[in-house]
Amino acid sequence: MNSNRITIVGAGNVGATTAHIAASRKLGDIVLIDIVKGLAEGKALDMAQAGPVQGYSVQITGTTDWSKTEGSNIVVITSGLARKPGMSRDDLLIKNVQIVKEVSERIAKYCPDSIVIVVSNPLDAMVYTAAKVTGFAKSRIMGMAGVLDAARFSYFIAGQLGVKAEDVQSILMGGHGDDMVPLPRFTTVSGTPITELLDVETISRLVERTRKGGIEVVDLLGSSAYYAPAAGVVKMAEAIISDTKAIMPCCAYCEKEYGAGGYFVGVPVVLGKNGVEKVVELKLNPDERAEFDRSLGHVKELSAKVDKLL
Ligand code: 2OP
Repeated sequence: MNSNRITIVGAGNVGATTAHIAASRKLGDIVLIDIVKGLAEGKALDMAQAGPVQGYSVQITGTTDWSKTEGSNIVVITSGLARKPGMSRDDLLIKNVQIVKEVSERIAKYCPDSIVIVVSNPLDAMVYTAAKVTGFAKSRIMGMAGVLDAARFSYFIAGQLGVKAEDVQSILMGGHGDDMVPLPRFTTVSGTPITELLDVETISRLVERTRKGGIEVVDLLGSSAYYAPAAGVVKMAEAIISDTKAIMPCCAYCEKEYGAGGYFVGVPVVLGKNGVEKVVELKLNPDERAEFDRSLGHVKELSAKVDKLL
């Protein structure tokens, strides 16, 4: 049995893809759980049978039984409705608060020592829901969104400049919504800020495409993205499991940091074995600060709605 045990709640596109990437990277034993009988069991069995071809032999368990998740050190919450064309992430709030609440109650019971990575939308509000319901230390609750949004920004910048996307280090902050805050001044291509490589109009266009990156896929696919979100989850889980102290944008608890006053919002953080080990405070200029405050205001509104629903 592997020392790491990763439970992925929800065997839909994001959950199953996360499980497969995590297994392929031998992150640990995987438990894929879903309420739909046979869904997690079937996908887990199929995934396990890819092991001999892909060269992994981690234990992959599909189940509807929460007792199978016991002992997990990481739990990923992907369960909940995903948006369809014409929907905003906020449209999912009322339904997904209840789903994430029930899942969080089970996590508190069966995986009391786990670190929780939330993916369900509206992301920042769902992270708040999981934190409130589990009662876990805030450093053990985080959301995957900034890694995804930064990956999209990097991809668009790389395409514009004709460079390798891996050579673009993007930073975003704020909520995972249309008011997210890409930070061109802190986004670099092998160390050079993109503000020295691209004109203002081009940067604005790439920022706007990043903000709408999720709905662009939804409109093409008819359902939410899952390859890039799953890759983002695994990147965060790897940093935690390997205690790398990697810095990446995550939805994390900020009290004094950025003057947030006690909310979960997208900020650069250091990830390690204890979860969110530090919030990295960038020196934002007045325009960046104003954008962040606007996005934080939206997060506060959604968090207030969660309070009324719990
Ligand atoms: C996205 O932006 C699903 O919110 C996720 O694609």
